[in-house]
Amino acid sequence: MEVLPRNTIHHLRCPVLDVVELEGGHCRLRFHAPPIARSSIPGQFVNVRLPGRIDRPRAFDSYADVVEYHKTHPVGEAPFLLARPFGVHRAGADGWVEILFKVVGRGTRLLAGAALGSRLDVLGSIGNGFNLTQPPQTAVLVAGGTGIAPLYLLAERLHRAGSGLVVLVGTGFALPMTLSDSDEVVHFLDKDVTAVIDEYVDLGAVVRIATIEPRKGCHTGTSVDLLSQYLQALPPGERAGKAIFSCGPWAMQAAVAGLAARYAMPCQVLLEERMGCGLGACMACVCKIRQETGEYKYKRVCVDGPVFDANDVGWEARE
Ligand SMILES: Cc1cc2nc3c(=O)[nH]c(=O)nc-3n(C[C@H](O)[C@H](O)[C@H](O)COP(=O)(O)OP(=O)(O)OC[C@H]3O[C@@H](n4cnc5c(N)ncnc54)[C@H](O)[C@@H]3O)c2cc1C
Ligand code: FES
Repeated sequence: MEVLPRNTIHHLRCPVLDVVELEGGHCRLRFHAPPIARSSIPGQFVNVRLPGRIDRPRAFDSYADVVEYHKTHPVGEAPFLLARPFGVHRAGADGWVEILFKVVGRGTRLLAGAALGSRLDVLGSIGNGFNLTQPPQTAVLVAGGTGIAPLYLLAERLHRAGSGLVVLVGTGFALPMTLSDSDEVVHFLDKDVTAVIDEYVDLGAVVRIATIEPRKGCHTGTSVDLLSQYLQALPPGERAGKAIFSCGPWAMQAAVAGLAARYAMPCQVLLEERMGCGLGACMACVCKIRQETGEYKYKRVCVDGPVFDANDVGWEARE
């Protein structure tokens, strides 16, 4: 991996290499961006926009003229102005970068429909990423919904660094990755909770899944339930050398942070705040973060984060 000076952000026009529709309205999009592929740290994100012509304003004399105009100029979906942030899901040595997302609005819908070979406007990689200076003996990765996407690059890097992996995933029902059944018995769950995600198992991870709507092989509940049961079943002497890494909705991460504090486990959280510029200029993404002095200050999630120590986030400020 290429190590760049902090705050180096590439601005590239990146050809789309592959777009795959996945279960539950998810999409995996791969584009060519060698400088970003080489330098991405797990937990960093890319800001992606589908460039296009934004129609200049047009004046009509009558409604009939409007109707006539649109007979020959069908109204397409206008390109979106602000780039959308996505965690780097995977990156290849030959220069590709993948994002994995759920279609939730106009930006993600247009990106899911991007044509092969069309060019994306990409800024990246942005943010601090997870602190991996001391990889733990065992990393417990907790994902809620599409929080699973940025955690995959993290799992890959931790696996390479020699960490064992426990991956606990919560979702509504559908998962954007390949599921299969495991024979392996885990000590913290009923024996009928057997579903695993192949991509993580290939990294030697112990994986378990929780779904809100019942699904065969999955625990009915949330990833926080899985974490709670895992930590409860862990003898106190076995907590040393383990660290939690989490990504998902705010309320879920607040609960993960609460469990980490209760069991005195180190925990880093990747916050997926709504963003404007994604570059530190607009302050749309600020959150209360505790400083070394103990005082809380607003920090920009895009450039000061998006990863923070769970103990430092002002969780209650949002509730
Ligand atoms: C650092 C970071 C990393 C992210 N990584 C991923 C990822 O890997 N995969 C993924 O699917 N999504 C990810 N997101 C969320 C993603 O950016 C939004 O889903 C996307 O911007 C929505 O764009 P849209 O135009 O389709 O939706 P919009 O029309 O803007 O919004 C549609 C709906 O989605 C909600 N929404 C929009 N942005 C967010 C957000 N940031 N968090 C929660 N809800 C939001 C809106 O409130 C609204 O209800 C990430 C966000 C951040 C900040
Ligand atoms: S999104 Fe503009 S400052 Fe963070």
